[in-house]
Amino acid sequence: KDEERFAETLLSWYDRSARRLPWRVPPGEGVRQDPYLVLISETMLQQTTVATVKGRFGAFIETFPSVEALASAKEEEVLAAWAGLGYYRRARSLHACAKAVAEVHGGVFPADEGSLRKLPGIGAYTAAAITSIAFGQRAVVVDTNVERIVARVRRITEPLPKARKLIAGEAEKLMPEDRYGDYAQALMDHGATICRPKAPDCLLCPVRPFCASAGTEDAVRLPIKPPK
Ligand code: ADE
Repeated sequence: KDEERFAETLLSWYDRSARRLPWRVPPGEGVRQDPYLVLISETMLQQTTVATVKGRFGAFIETFPSVEALASAKEEEVLAAWAGLGYYRRARSLHACAKAVAEVHGGVFPADEGSLRKLPGIGAYTAAAITSIAFGQRAVVVDTNVERIVARVRRITEPLPKARKLIAGEAEKLMPEDRYGDYAQALMDHGATICRPKAPDCLLCPVRPFCASAGTEDAVRLPIKPPK
């Protein structure tokens, strides 16, 4: 099936082309990332570019190397370590999340998406990212990269945000049977380097054979933005 070959093909591209990023474990069978590091990096990456996060992640982790260290810090210390990243609400919410993991879960992250969702500051995206990248469990990670890739691959012409349900359903059908964390990060790299918002590079795209928009104007135009 095309669906299975899409994921397989994207994963083998990722094995060759994964960006080396400081929060990332290089691709490989069964390799997991520490859930605390996934929480910090994915929260940073929600409103800050990869280029900026690259330069700030290491220092934050050195200041607060574990969820307990973050939980027992003073708020001013957390905000100081966040300097330069902007949107300080995220720093406060990370702090609250670390306290909840320390107090409610004894400092151990719960390993299922539903319990993660109940933690303060953890939304659908972050819960799915931790579930797949740290715990290797199946979770559909949908960010704007994934929305864009899926809308193009499946040629979904309905505008956002209405198309979201359809896109999430198609994203789920395209998933592999394993390597969920690598797959989520493969989509992010593909969206950042090949299936770019304004200038998709269909000629270099490894999943071009499975894409309904490849090489057409739809590859540039999709997904359709909500009317303003
Ligand atoms: N953007 C958001 N999360 C990311 C990740 N894990 N790797 C690369 N880019 C990202």
